[in-house]
Amino acid sequence: MNAKKARVAVLVSGGGTNLQALIDAQAAGIICSGEICLVIANNANAYALTRAANAGIPSVTVLKKECGSQAAFEQAIIAALEENAIDLIVLAGFMSILSEDFTRRYDHRILNVHPSLIPSFCGQGFYGLHVHEAALAKGVKVTGATVHFVNEIPDGGEIILQKAVEVQEGDTPEILQKRVMEQAEWKLLPAAVEMVSAKIVQ
Ligand code: GAR
Repeated sequence: MNAKKARVAVLVSGGGTNLQALIDAQAAGIICSGEICLVIANNANAYALTRAANAGIPSVTVLKKECGSQAAFEQAIIAALEENAIDLIVLAGFMSILSEDFTRRYDHRILNVHPSLIPSFCGQGFYGLHVHEAALAKGVKVTGATVHFVNEIPDGGEIILQKAVEVQEGDTPEILQKRVMEQAEWKLLPAAVEMVSAKIVQ
């Protein structure tokens, strides 16, 4: 077995339950080819920052407002990634769309978790609870989650893993979100991080 590990950065905006799933998977040995070395938040109040601190993972906060432009915001993120020699970037509830310049720079080195079965309920405007609201409004009986590589098209990159989750009678967006997280996202994302990390270090 290769002792070298891919250096992973996790980009977050909010609660960070997917970050927590990654931290737990690393502790459990499910992720063994990668190591979470850095958390980057675009929101100073993100609870994900507390999760990172509790796990002893260094974090930085980069605020678009303070940077002044998308380009300066991305430059600040790139600086943090380079300082930490990051190999793999994981968008785990990161609510900011990255430019083509950024995604091309890290071709096949950025993963995203999305709470639907892409190509349903994805793209611009479909994030967080809105995705589940749209699924319920459409009346689908099955939804799920997708982990994919990130390219210049929002939610348009190559699919890595998907898992279906049943919609149940009486579901609210919140109840459905929780089921999709528990049954799909929190399992798929660690599995995908391990798969891609193993390829990076092989
Ligand atoms: C997750 O459901 C994630 O899939 C979704 O936001 C939530 C973040 O929760 N991401 C998107 O909608 C991206 N388009 P978390 O902060 O608890 O991981």
